[in-house]
Amino acid sequence: MAKLLITGGAGFIGSHTCVLLLEAGHQLVVFDDFRNSSPEALKRVEELSGRRLELVAGDLRDPGSLGRVFGSGPYASGGGIDAVIHFAGLKAVGESVAQPLLYWDVNVGGTRLLLEAMAAAGCRTLVFSSSATLYGYPAQVPIPETAPIQPINPYGHSKAAAEQLLADLAASEPGWRIARLRYFNPVGAHPSGRLGEDPQGLPNNLFPFLTQVAVGRRSELQVFGSDWPTPDGTGVRDYIHVMDLAEGHRAALELLLAEEPQLLTLNLGSGQGHSVLELVKAFELASAKAVPYRLVGRRPGDAAITVADPSLALERLGWRTQRSLADICRDGWAWQAANPQGYRG
Ligand code: UD1
Repeated sequence: MAKLLITGGAGFIGSHTCVLLLEAGHQLVVFDDFRNSSPEALKRVEELSGRRLELVAGDLRDPGSLGRVFGSGPYASGGGIDAVIHFAGLKAVGESVAQPLLYWDVNVGGTRLLLEAMAAAGCRTLVFSSSATLYGYPAQVPIPETAPIQPINPYGHSKAAAEQLLADLAASEPGWRIARLRYFNPVGAHPSGRLGEDPQGLPNNLFPFLTQVAVGRRSELQVFGSDWPTPDGTGVRDYIHVMDLAEGHRAALELLLAEEPQLLTLNLGSGQGHSVLELVKAFELASAKAVPYRLVGRRPGDAAITVADPSLALERLGWRTQRSLADICRDGWAWQAANPQGYRG
């Protein structure tokens, strides 16, 4: 059992991972500013796991808040953090184009401050949320971890910079145990229907948009591009069930705690590609709802196909995805149908 700090633990991927970590017996301190998440998610994490967690509400960029976690200041939680899983960050591509300073500040500056606090407290074990967005327009698919890092928007640049910072730090002194996990397209929900993705405002991503159309919150889905060089002309992605992703975090953490200090960089994806229309069809089948859609032009900045080569994660962690596209759709629909307005319902 370890004492873990989970930044962004109330968010989509964070909350699902918290359930697994509590079930595995770890003690959790969740740090979140609830900018894009809800305290209700954490209540449900406790309910599902049957365990309590400690919450520190705050912004990473506020040194006082991190001090409370790592054991300085009047409200210190007692420190003693063995490892950190760092989910907290911003991830909307369009917003990052409009507000690059914000993205560099939160995703890079926030990560730097976290690392300073960890170093000062003698905590040198970190699992970092990275993204397949680093690969930009990939030259080859499936994409191995050795593919060139060539992000195409400020969000991607901020993730690439944070990854570089972690590599520089690992090279600067021995003892750091760091995993950089590059997620492909996280979707689905906890099978209970109690936890799921709850974007604020108009969803930027396909899966939450699809579920909101099915539940009647939006009238139709726009399919961005039907002339891509793919079998049905729509974009192909590697969709990964959020519970598979959560299991990947647990496996990476356990490896870091068990092995010698190292810098581990892994794709977390299924290795399978599905088109937008395939996902729509699978979702209609799982939900027994029609999803009206309209084919429109391509979205700027999209690639035709991104699919992970996940073989290194299998080799290093013994991890591979277990859940199918049908499981993703069934669980995602169970969440959206039971929570049509998300956590605010
Ligand atoms: C997007 C981001 C990526 C980020 C990830 C975070 C872009 C260009 N990329 O990935 O940097 O890491 O989210 O989760 O924003 N689609 C539609 N209609 C929609 C929405 C999407 O047809 O309303 C299509 C897209 O064109 C794409 C597929 O669905 O082919 C998946 O899109 P999305 O869910 O936004 O994920 P990515 O673009 O892969």
